[in-house]
Amino acid sequence: MNIRIFELERIQSLFENTVDYNLTESGFHPYTLEELLTAEQFKELTKRVIGYGQTNGSIQLRKNVSFLYNDVDEENVLVTNGSSEANFIACHTLLEKNDEVIMMVPNYMQIWGIAEEMGCKLKAFHLKEDNRWKPDLKELKNLITNETKMIALCNPNNPTGYTFTKEEMEQIVEIARSADAWIYCDEVYRGAELNGITIDSFISMYDKVMVNGGLSKSYALPGSRLGWLVGPKTTIADTWAYHDYTSIAAGMLSQYIGEIVLEPNKRLEILSRNRNMLNGNLKTVKLWLDQYGDIFEYVEPQAGGMLFIKYNLNINSTELAEWLRKEKSVFILAGDVYGMDKHFRIGIGERKEYIINGLDRIKEGLTERFGL
Ligand SMILES: Cc1ncc(COP(=O)(O)O)c(C=O)c1O
Repeated sequence: MNIRIFELERIQSLFENTVDYNLTESGFHPYTLEELLTAEQFKELTKRVIGYGQTNGSIQLRKNVSFLYNDVDEENVLVTNGSSEANFIACHTLLEKNDEVIMMVPNYMQIWGIAEEMGCKLKAFHLKEDNRWKPDLKELKNLITNETKMIALCNPNNPTGYTFTKEEMEQIVEIARSADAWIYCDEVYRGAELNGITIDSFISMYDKVMVNGGLSKSYALPGSRLGWLVGPKTTIADTWAYHDYTSIAAGMLSQYIGEIVLEPNKRLEILSRNRNMLNGNLKTVKLWLDQYGDIFEYVEPQAGGMLFIKYNLNINSTELAEWLRKEKSVFILAGDVYGMDKHFRIGIGERKEYIINGLDRIKEGLTERFGL
């Protein structure tokens, strides 16, 4: 096997269901169908035949997805099983062995693992913690060459919650254009902005742009496993060819749910429910962290369901996370999965009481082990 273990996902899958308090989630407390659907919609769902449906996504769903972007229609959209399948297909469609890929870090490391397994050459440009996670675009400019096939981004960013300014997006486009490289942006957290203003997509800023999206994060429906790719029509037609090999089609019940969720009013209702949770929880978590003075440092996220925290304690992040999991049954995500020791990530999209109870367990642990 040539592919490296995707530490971030694997470690969560191994332990998230074995603890009293799982604070590793990066999305929002998921909906039930009962909360989400009207009685008529629920009835309609039960009447649907469970066939393959249209394998690149139902026309209505692709239309509803296309309304989230400028200058595209349903032919610019492929529906996938989660944004993770979208990432997999995008890499296989856009990249070949020996291609150079420049990826922003820290980041959700799926694309790194896939591109590495495909035999691509990977380089990293950094978000700078000492500059409130602003991207080092000089570094990107220095790294790009005529061999660069793709710049891989994540906006809003997992794990920092950073969102690019419009000027940064324009500069990235200019840098990509200078090498005729693709921009691939993981935009699965788009819609989860704390200030309620949905950020612009890279779509329509440049002709070689592809982005993903999905219902797992901003829409609080990870179990629907519904995602999508948006890009130029001919390239999206190519991604469909890969999709025939990976999973054929996304589940048609999920597609029906997706059609409903992305109706304009329903979409706003869901985003507003999640934004309220996010803003409320951020306040609570900040108060909790601040009681420890300079032990914890963080930059407030602009979007997404998580907070990335630096700690000043003499313990490795994996060791800290394992100790808390085993001794206090509370699970945090070690910075090591991002190659960033002395950091950890906690989710702030869960129900408030759940987060408070989880933090209480961490507090017990900090007292017991560090006398804090
Ligand atoms: C940035 C990012 N992209 C993609 C994914 C994959 O999510 P899904 O396949 O559930 O859409 C995640 C999950 O944590 C993520 O954080």
